[in-house]
Amino acid sequence: MPPRMVVTIDGTVGSGKSTAAAGLAARLGAAHLDTGAMYRALTLKALDAGADLEDARALAAMAASTEIELDGTPGALRVRLDGRDVSAAIRENRVSTNSHYLARTAGVRRVLVEKQRALARRAGSIVTEGRDQGTVVFPDADVKFFLDAAPEVRARRRQLELQDRGEYKSYREVLAEIVERDRRDSTRAADPLRPAETAVRVDTSDMTVDQMVDALARIVGERAGGGTFRKEAP
Ligand code: C5P
Repeated sequence: MPPRMVVTIDGTVGSGKSTAAAGLAARLGAAHLDTGAMYRALTLKALDAGADLEDARALAAMAASTEIELDGTPGALRVRLDGRDVSAAIRENRVSTNSHYLARTAGVRRVLVEKQRALARRAGSIVTEGRDQGTVVFPDADVKFFLDAAPEVRARRRQLELQDRGEYKSYREVLAEIVERDRRDSTRAADPLRPAETAVRVDTSDMTVDQMVDALARIVGERAGGGTFRKEAP
């Protein structure tokens, strides 16, 4: 078994999780697992199928019979849903604002948690990001981070992200949306968003991307005793 490590990054919408995870994975030569992409892919499938988003059993059954593949390199992730490339479609705002239905469904989470652990077992070292990675999915991770930033900063970031994709929304609307998404993620019964007890909390409000990746990489280096890991994913 080669040396391997598991680094988890959880946090709020727009806190920089994806950018940090991609940058850190590239820096460490690790795989990058974007677990939000999985919830998004299932949300897209449910929306396109006109599924009843309140029907927990149907959603769980759909999750169990869906093939989600993630490949590509950190920062250029490709997502396939039952063989179809949905990398762009899952980033649409209608998917963001409806993902809480799938995310709150315990049966859906069970399926995705299993998939995430299986992917991690197959990968060597991995940087995985989401809401429950340090608390539920990888409780024995080598290093756990929890990212957050001022809501105003996160709203601006999210607004720019949408703009890059040709979706224009007012700052106030985006701010209201992210606050609501975080509220839903933090208050649901199933695997809510919260920092793991041992998570290193990082406020990214005033950090550039490089500063953020540098900070995380430094902490990983310190925690890992110079980069030698031995722990296995669960
Ligand atoms: O991270 P991202 O914004 O792409 O995630 C989309 C949604 O998927 C989140 O708002 C959250 O509701 C859900 N999610 C989750 N658990 C994860 C990752 C994402 O509940 N590990």
